[in-house]
Amino acid sequence: MKVLATRRYPGPAFDELGHAEVGPLEPRADVEALLVANEPVDASDFPALRLVANFGVGYDRIGVEALRERGIAVTNTPGVLDAATADLTWALILATRRRVVEGDRRVRAGEWTGSWADGFLAEELSGSTLGIVGLGRIGSAVARRAEGFELRVLSTRRSGGMPLDELLAESDIVTIHAPLTSETQGLLDARRLSLLRDGACLVNTARGEIVDEDALVRELVAGRIRAGLDVFAHEPHVPDELVSLPNVVLTPHLGSATRQTREAMTRIVVDNVLAYERGDPLLTPVET
Ligand code: 8YV
Repeated sequence: MKVLATRRYPGPAFDELGHAEVGPLEPRADVEALLVANEPVDASDFPALRLVANFGVGYDRIGVEALRERGIAVTNTPGVLDAATADLTWALILATRRRVVEGDRRVRAGEWTGSWADGFLAEELSGSTLGIVGLGRIGSAVARRAEGFELRVLSTRRSGGMPLDELLAESDIVTIHAPLTSETQGLLDARRLSLLRDGACLVNTARGEIVDEDALVRELVAGRIRAGLDVFAHEPHVPDELVSLPNVVLTPHLGSATRQTREAMTRIVVDNVLAYERGDPLLTPVET
């Protein structure tokens, strides 16, 4: 099978695809399997395409529906990135709530003058209320870690769970763990963001498009809330206004970015390709 990968994916499993070519997503008549990282695939560019193996659990940018209509199978990498993404979520919760990056900047700028940071106060984490938007695999991993911090945990889920508006109004920290779909695009719009408590922290390690980014920027510029953002609506673009704000912690889409997790993701991608070649069932097909 002719396999084209958009990059050399990390870890030793990639070498098991000895026959894979690494190159750009440009029209090719011979390619039968594509390895992508949530990159848009135009099936008409690849007339022989039979499989798209996505390096990532989220496949919102690939164009799954159009691929399925042409009988092209799609796979993703669920499960193996839950811990890494939940850990990064906690890094952002702690950094945002306890003003860690602001403190770091103060030290580096030589602004730490007294023997202790008199007056540089944050809000307590223990005992506060955490609202999880989307209690799926990653959201549940975040919830398990919340037990150690003695938080009250609220959550919404695909069906059931707490109404989103109530969760937003009652939480000190809100963290997003829903997939990007037509239902979740712009879910946290200006009205919903206005429901957040003054001083609340919003953390997003899911997808930037789930939040109305312009409305979020307005709230952050006003200084009413704080945010820890790993994802943005137009990556790698980060709105200019955010760069200089003290109440925002910014990371470059690092949710799954540990060596172990990324290697495990490659393992699943490769196993799906090998299964397809053998004629075995796919390990992690995307069901739409
Ligand atoms: C990837 C992700 O880095 O899995 C996801 O949905 O967002 C990240 O793990 C990204 O999708 C590239 O594949």
